[in-house]
Amino acid sequence: MSPRSNNLEHEHRIAVYPGSFDPVTFGHLDIIRRAAKQFDQLIVAVLNNTSKRPLFSVDERKKLLADVTRDLPNVEIDSFRDLLVRYMRSRQAQVIVRGIRSVTDFEYELQMASTNRQLDEGIETVFMMTNPKYSYLSSSIVKEIAKFNGPVQDLVPPAVEAALQGKYKPSLGDFN
Ligand code: PNS
Repeated sequence: MSPRSNNLEHEHRIAVYPGSFDPVTFGHLDIIRRAAKQFDQLIVAVLNNTSKRPLFSVDERKKLLADVTRDLPNVEIDSFRDLLVRYMRSRQAQVIVRGIRSVTDFEYELQMASTNRQLDEGIETVFMMTNPKYSYLSSSIVKEIAKFNGPVQDLVPPAVEAALQGKYKPSLGDFN
């Protein structure tokens, strides 16, 4: 039977891990690696949101994600600019993956999952608890440290560290 068959029993399980990924951190990568084991295919989908002012362009974010996931054959990197549920249908994906770091994430995530359920009952959101090692970690924290030329090697993969260095040239305030 074709993996794209409409027969749910035999369906190829496709999950989408959506986010801003500005830039990808070890926390995201931990979720990607674990989610990739649970589904036949995992699409990491970067939101192309014209109303936000990201540090990295969508193409730069996609390239970094592709670089740090190149050893994961069932992971694909893509971007979307539509409602997530519509994008999911266009990719024949059934499951949204989101990471939860702490109770502070919970309310926002519940609101998003409930909204997506209201928009499309056929799409399920699955939460994975972030590795406690990365429970404080966010792209914003990484950018904040990198802006002051602080050390980020424990927070992001080397390719991301290099890309951050390219964005924030060392200043006189360098404390390393
Ligand atoms: O990494 P982020 O910024 O927390 O990710 C948020 C994201 C991209 C998952 C969310 O903003 C999203 O899905 N946006 C697409 C628009 C949409 O479908 N909104 C309705 C659900 S709230």
